[in-house]
Amino acid sequence: MTADRKKFYIETYGCQMNKYDSEIVAGILGKEGYTQVFRPEEADILLVNTCSVREHAETRALGRADNLGVFKHKTPGVRIGVLGCIVQNRGEKILEDHSAVDFAVAPDSYRQLPKILNNHREASGDDFSVRAFLDESDSGETYDDVYPARVKGLSAWIAVMRGCDNFCAYCIVPHVRGRERSRPAAHVVEEVRKLADEGVVEVTLLGQNVNSYDDGTHDFPDLLEKVAEQNGIGRVRFATSHPKDLSEKLVRTVADHEKICSHIHLPVQSGSTRILRVMNRAYTREAYLERVDLIRKHLPNVGLTTDIIVGFPGETQSDFEQTKSLLREVEFDGAFIFKYSPRPHTSAAGLKETLTEGEKIARLQELNAVQKTITQKRNQMHIGRTAQILVEGPSKKSLKDAMGRLENNKIVVLPDTKLQPGKFVTVKITDSKGITLFGELVDFKFQ
Ligand code: SAH
Ligand code: SF4
Ligand code: F3S
Repeated sequence: MTADRKKFYIETYGCQMNKYDSEIVAGILGKEGYTQVFRPEEADILLVNTCSVREHAETRALGRADNLGVFKHKTPGVRIGVLGCIVQNRGEKILEDHSAVDFAVAPDSYRQLPKILNNHREASGDDFSVRAFLDESDSGETYDDVYPARVKGLSAWIAVMRGCDNFCAYCIVPHVRGRERSRPAAHVVEEVRKLADEGVVEVTLLGQNVNSYDDGTHDFPDLLEKVAEQNGIGRVRFATSHPKDLSEKLVRTVADHEKICSHIHLPVQSGSTRILRVMNRAYTREAYLERVDLIRKHLPNVGLTTDIIVGFPGETQSDFEQTKSLLREVEFDGAFIFKYSPRPHTSAAGLKETLTEGEKIARLQELNAVQKTITQKRNQMHIGRTAQILVEGPSKKSLKDAMGRLENNKIVVLPDTKLQPGKFVTVKITDSKGITLFGELVDFKFQ
């Protein structure tokens, strides 16, 4: 235990937005003189930033918070805090159910963390009277003025909006993250400028539904364009797009700007219009397919990825077959497929589940197998192509090789270690194995 008890460790579960939030928390604590450490045994404060999207996500994150309790036994005075979406979902019950947890702070209340930690520092030993729960939801918080403390690298995430107003029937996010609010474009651009000056070359703009970004003056394509204009930034990515709001203006903006990556994550959730209606997704199968046509018309080499839920209440064999046929028709480059998990507060929580766990697992496996073949086929289509990659570093499998990503987010491995991370180079794709492409260097393109 250090004398000032100001070392914190943070572990993050859930989506990219949550990872960004952990950087916000590190930014808030860093300003107050706390130091981030990357091993729990070195820390005085252990933070677990949690996700509620599926039950399994909650179980994992809370299990980890319980396990971290061993550090309290080893070093008296160590504090454990739970952050994130579970706090909004379960409220003070977290403190009742998890004796190792000293404080719980919901996503809109992170500015209060230094105050909570001060109270704990002043309290002696294992004084539980300072256990705290904080939830300032609906405050309109955007952390707009907080500069996140990021681990230095080539890429950075920037949340451009928070919350979600869509209330898809299965989804807890609008209930735990509150209403949509956008940060002013000028502030986002300022953050991007600062990042570029620090050596970041790739930024990903984040929101639960970036297409509904609106700061009163700019829509999302306007914002993308402004970010892409910043010198030093070589690539701009974004996620996630809701199909109902994906506009032709957005697709054209991506097509018109070399720096805006031709990768669109467009969660479809189901291929059955009937299920989509019950899910409250506000589009039909046909409307979704039209959006895909629009995207591919303007962005022929687009990387198109999606999310799917299998086993939603009432999903019949015929509904499931429609999802399978949609996968085959669209040929996504990748798909994240999830088993439906009923969530509290959501409207679908009131629907009777009609499939057994075994049936859900079987559907999940079947779709994963279908998608695997499609992903391989899509990757093979790149063989022979010449394209640009951003070099990220050595390949995970072999330090002798370098790896980078194509604009469409696919990984390319190159037999060359001398390539510097952060460089854009032109490669010829020569082979494809599993989800990885292999290539050879054709030319350097310096920024
Ligand atoms: N904002 C994003 C996704 C947020 S959650 C969007 O609108 O697309 C990420 C994914 O988790 C969703 O796309 C959905 O496929 C899945 N998901 C959300 N709630 C779920 C639930 N209750 N059970 C299973 N999967 C779920
Ligand atoms: Fe959840 Fe739907 Fe909002 Fe995405 S758009 S976060 S799936 S409610
Ligand atoms: Fe999970 Fe919260 Fe993200 S529920 S998916 S961490 S917004």
